[in-house]
Amino acid sequence: MATQPIRVLMVCLGNICRSPTAEVVFRNEVSKRQLEHLFDIDSAGTGTWHIGEKPDKRARAAAALRELDLEPLQARTVAADDFHNFDYIFAMDATNLSDLKAIEPANAKASTQLFLTWPDKQEGRDGYREVPDPYYSGEEGFELVLDLVEAASKDILDHIVDVHQLS
Ligand code: 4NP
Repeated sequence: MATQPIRVLMVCLGNICRSPTAEVVFRNEVSKRQLEHLFDIDSAGTGTWHIGEKPDKRARAAAALRELDLEPLQARTVAADDFHNFDYIFAMDATNLSDLKAIEPANAKASTQLFLTWPDKQEGRDGYREVPDPYYSGEEGFELVLDLVEAASKDILDHIVDVHQLS
């Protein structure tokens, strides 16, 4: 019997820096564990400015240095259906989380959570509770995003593997 994939949506403001990075990093962690067939991973933004655009070129360049390919992605906005279609929605920062909670339907299937602290951590790597917006920062901001989302992706995947008894 075919099982339903576990559907994970990464969300930030523009869907051109943090959440596409988180999408590809998380997918990479899933594929390192050969669990691709069990997951469906996507990303979206709470804002509408960048719909249809590729990820920011600084995000693409920083990811490419770690052999991660952000080129094929295209920005989109979060939709009401996402709360029914996904199992987990991860917000990159507290504003993204409150923007999501403001549009979350009452009968949502998805569990909508802060990415760096889910399920029950006080803080993520280096004391960060949120992934800082790198849009107005230099290259180091994009490196930090990658470091934070790599650490969180490993922890989240460990937890999901455990909860869903995937191994
Ligand atoms: P992201 O970064 O939310 O990580 O994709 C941003 C991208 C664009 C803007 C802000 C943040 N913007 O204001 O256009």
